[in-house]
Amino acid sequence: MGDKLVLPGPASEDLGKAVASNLGLEIVAAEFKVFPDGETRFTSDQKVSGKSVIIVQSTYPPIDQHLFQLLLASHCLSQEGARVTAVVPYLAYARQDKAFLPGEGVTLGVVSHLMRSAGVRRLATVDIHSVEGLSLFSFPAYSVSAVPTLVGYANDHLKLSDPVVISPDFGGSKRTEAFAALYGAKFLKLEKSRDRVSGEVRMKHGTLDVKRKEVLILDDIISTGGTIRAAAETVMDQGASKVIALCVHGLFVGDSLRKLEKAGVKTVVGTNTVPGERGVVDVSEAIASHLKTLEE
Ligand code: R5P
Repeated sequence: MGDKLVLPGPASEDLGKAVASNLGLEIVAAEFKVFPDGETRFTSDQKVSGKSVIIVQSTYPPIDQHLFQLLLASHCLSQEGARVTAVVPYLAYARQDKAFLPGEGVTLGVVSHLMRSAGVRRLATVDIHSVEGLSLFSFPAYSVSAVPTLVGYANDHLKLSDPVVISPDFGGSKRTEAFAALYGAKFLKLEKSRDRVSGEVRMKHGTLDVKRKEVLILDDIISTGGTIRAAAETVMDQGASKVIALCVHGLFVGDSLRKLEKAGVKTVVGTNTVPGERGVVDVSEAIASHLKTLEE
């Protein structure tokens, strides 16, 4: 396996190492240095010519810094003759995969161009916001599902009795429905609308069968917490006995966790695409299994 190596980027050191160990691959010897003014330097004297290098680097905040570290490493290694696969567990800008307002940039398209010109040959991410976003990449791009891993977590740790699984919006409903099916729970979806200018979230719904029930809300991303808070308030108003929130990518911006706690959400958990206290569901095996299926 000496022709394949893994470089865990600074944003995904533990996850990158876990992926490498899962695949039985060595780590690239490299250094990312951040200068006092914020500039990044990448150095590696590893011989990578003719080798395949998997760079694991999530792009949670500080998003542009993490993205640039990925681009820099990919550029340098591909210049040395490596074939680069970027594993970007949380792919920032995936929500900007089309112009929603007149004149708005399709930022994910720009990310795709940047990756290509930095030598990325292949991309794997985890639960991209919308699979349509993959078509903006002019090289093979894949989204690995964290759903089976999240179901395993729910079975082992949440101990809910006869729960109802809820998708807070239409966009994420396929993912959440798949979760509910595997978890063996009833599935319901809410209809979210977000003011594109103010960002304010509203939920549209009829009567929901959640009275005295334990509710698990699953979304791909928790950023400001506005979506989960609105969903939690909706089901609590309709008599739910308990609300738990699971997500793939827990960004937990600002006081989002406090907001969710105030809204009565008992547990909030995400995966280690975004490391931290709440990023407890380990997706390294799901990523490694996917990488094993890819041909050179
Ligand atoms: C949007 O459609 C996503 O699926 C999430 O619902 C959204 O990004 C969550 O953001 P926030 O936590 O800021 O409401």
